Order: sequence, then C-alpha cells, then structure tokens
Amino acid sequence: MDKLASSQKRTVFQYLFTFLALIALSAIIIACVVAFRSVSGVYFDLPTLFSAGFLIVVLLGVNYIVLRSYNRGDAVSSVFVFSVLLVTVVSSIVCLHFDYAYAVPLSFLALLLGMDFHKKSAIVTHFTTIMIVAVCIVLFSYESEAILFSELSLLIMVLVVNTVCGILLITMIGRYSSRLKVLFTSSFIVFVSGLIGFMSAAALGGDPDIMQMITVGVSIMAGGAISIFAYFCMTPIFERVFNLNTGLRLVELCSFNQPLLKELEEKAPGTFNHSLTVSNIAERAAYAIGEDPRLAKAAALYHDIGKIENPEFFTENQIDGYNPHDDLIPEVSVKMITRHTEAGAKILTSKGFPKEIISAAVEHHGDSPVGYFYHKAQNITEGTLEEKGYTYVGPKPQTKINAIIMIADICEAATRSVRPSTREELVELVDKLVRQKMSEKQFDECPITMAELTAVKGAVVNTLMGVHHERISYNFGNKK
Ligand SMILES: [Fe+2]
Ligand SMILES: [Fe+2]
Repeated sequence: MDKLASSQKRTVFQYLFTFLALIALSAIIIACVVAFRSVSGVYFDLPTLFSAGFLIVVLLGVNYIVLRSYNRGDAVSSVFVFSVLLVTVVSSIVCLHFDYAYAVPLSFLALLLGMDFHKKSAIVTHFTTIMIVAVCIVLFSYESEAILFSELSLLIMVLVVNTVCGILLITMIGRYSSRLKVLFTSSFIVFVSGLIGFMSAAALGGDPDIMQMITVGVSIMAGGAISIFAYFCMTPIFERVFNLNTGLRLVELCSFNQPLLKELEEKAPGTFNHSLTVSNIAERAAYAIGEDPRLAKAAALYHDIGKIENPEFFTENQIDGYNPHDDLIPEVSVKMITRHTEAGAKILTSKGFPKEIISAAVEHHGDSPVGYFYHKAQNITEGTLEEKGYTYVGPKPQTKINAIIMIADICEAATRSVRPSTREELVELVDKLVRQKMSEKQFDECPITMAELTAVKGAVVNTLMGVHHERISYNFGNKK
C-alpha cells in the first residue's frame, strides 16, 4: 500500500516536473524572440506573449504525450528531443532576426531524430517544431512592416516545404544509413526543396521577380545545407551526451580501431575471435527477424568484454595448455567465470557505451547454470548439491537481440568443441542448444516468438557453415 502511494506520488511529481520543464522551455523560446525583437525596437504586450507562450506549451505538451505513447518519454529521450528542438527553434529565430527567414534550418531536427528515433514520434516532433517556428514568425511580424502579406505567404510555403522535406528525411534516412547515404539523400532532398521554393516564389510572391525566386530557392537550400553541416558536427556530441546508439555510432563502435576492441584482441585473442563470429551470427539473425543488425553486431562484439579482466580463465584463451581452474575448487571457478558479465557492464558503463550494448553484456548468459563446474562440484560432494550458486546472476535476456546473442554465443562455443562435420550435425546441435535454453526458461522474459527462434536457428547454421566451411560438409543424407 505504501509502495503504491509512493509510486503515485512519484508519478505526480514527474508530471509536475515535466509540466514546469515545458513552461521553462516555452519561456526560453519566447525570451529569445523578445530579446531579438527588442533590438529592433519592437516591444510586445503581455497578452500577446502569454498567448504565444501558452500555445507553445500546448504544442510541447502534445508532443510529450506522443513521445510517451511510443515509449520515448523517458527522461533521457525527452531531454534529447527537446534539446534538439530548442537548438532548431533558436537557430530559426536567429535566421528570422537577420532577415534570412527562408533559410530556417528546420531539417536539422529531422535528420538527427531520424537516425535514432521512432519514426512516428520523430515526425510529430518535427511537426511541433514547425508549428513553434510558425508562432515565432507571427511574433516577428508583430508591429512590423518588414514582413508583408506576400512574404508571409512565402514563409508559410517555406514551412510547408520544410515539413515535407523533414518527413522525407525521417522516412528515407534510417539507422542503417551510412554517412555517405545520409549526405547524398539529404543533399538531394534539400536541392529538390530549394527548386520547389524557387517555383513557389513565382506563384506566391506577387509579381514574379526572378531575384526573389532565386533568393527563396537558394535560402531554402542554404538552410538545408546548414542543417546537414550541423547534423554532422553535432551528432557525435549528442551521441556522447545522451548515450545514443545511432547508426553512425554503431558503425564507429564496430570499427576494429576502437581501443576496447584492440585491448580485447591483445589480452584475450581467443575471446576476440569468438566475439567476431558471434557478431556475424547476431547480425545475420537480427536481420532475419527484423531487428537492428548493427545494434546486434555491436552488442555481440562487446558481449564478453568483461573477460579482459581475467582472460586466462576462459578456455578459448588457454593456448599454452595451462588451465588455472585445475588449481581451484569449483565454487571459485564459477565465480571467476560468471563475473565477466558484470565486469563487462562496468567497463562499458565507464566508457559511456549505449545501454543496449551494456544490457547484452549483462544478459547474454541469463541465469543459466555453469554446467561443467556444477557437475565437477557434484562429483566431489556427498549427497545432493543445489544448482543455486553455480549459475550466472542474470537477468534473463529482456530483448530479442540479447536472446539472439545468447543463442549465437552458445552455438559458436559448442561448434568449436563438438566440431560437427556435416550440416545435419550442425542443425541438430543448434536445435539441441536452443531447446536447452528454452528448458532453462531463458527466453521467458523477452518477446521472441517460436517462428523467430526458427529464423534465428537458420541464420546461426548458415553463418557457422560459412565460418567452418572447410570442415563441415553438406551431407544430403549420406553420412560418410
Ligand atoms: Fe560470455
Ligand atoms: Fe561469449
């Protein structure tokens, strides 16, 4: 009862805090407009400012509700979204002040959110930004003779073009896009929107004035170019500050120049090679079930990073035949083995890795028993021995990607020791290992389906066939 009351209290406090944060955000935007307009000698009356502020709070509030409905309303995501929104709106206000109104860099937000965000919530946030910039345009036309009606219609056209441009960017550029694709696609969309602006200026700007047409067209392109430039400059900062796993960050993390991967290769070469194969399997399996292959690949590359603390305790690194477990009692051996999940999480957290990669390091063994040492302990124990104390600490995989990494991990390790010689033997082995994990209830806390497990098994077999092709033959029924 107490728990319920405190959680309700926390929820009320969260809503109150969010509401105050949205008011503060709105106040910053209005303060920016007021500051820039006062430079030009324009002063607003309070009802106008209050109405504009109220409108912006409502827009931000609706946006926040949409973010929550798509599960992107957590503190980090909200701060990220609203920071990008603020940067975009303030840059637009600067453009409006210096009479570069057609060059408002609205594509920046679309580009940045499109890379890591749920597409629908990214589109809604983009639309909110456009609406807030529209409110700012109205405030800039307040008691101003600078913005004529024809210009206002042109500005509305610029907002419409930017809305479409942003939606296209969000839908066409995904997290799997390379830097080159982002550059070419965004440049093409910005160029086309500039052309549309050029033609619309002729239709909306009163007398078709070639200079005005060029100004509008070139300004829209300039706004887009600034957005693309800002995107490339600011993405690494946002990734670091908010721990995002954008496509670019994932590509960066998969690079073998990453100091942590170099350290793994140096200290635990066996684990490094194991992780490479696991990452290939995970990438293919994730693709097969519609999950993010890059995230799966990156998470799998670092899943055993905790082993760099004591590499010699893991068979894949015991190249000189020395096995330190021979001198240890099973209880200690189990501790030395199982600690690599938490050790990995600690290392990855200290280096600022995305939470999805850290969770893969923690969850890839779930709470499975360490069978070998449990049996070893059983052999030297009189009576029955409880399995508890000989298992990983968990938790079980919470996501499909972590379930994939669990399967890829055991299948890769087992293939190295069992060494199946035909495809049938490999299929049988993979099937047996997945059934074993199912009997341990390791997939009970993640939403993976039976059909997806079948697809994952297929991807595991195909990748391992490719890796060990020299010793696994395709045997169509005739066992040699
Ligand atoms: Fe592991
Ligand atoms: Fe592993």
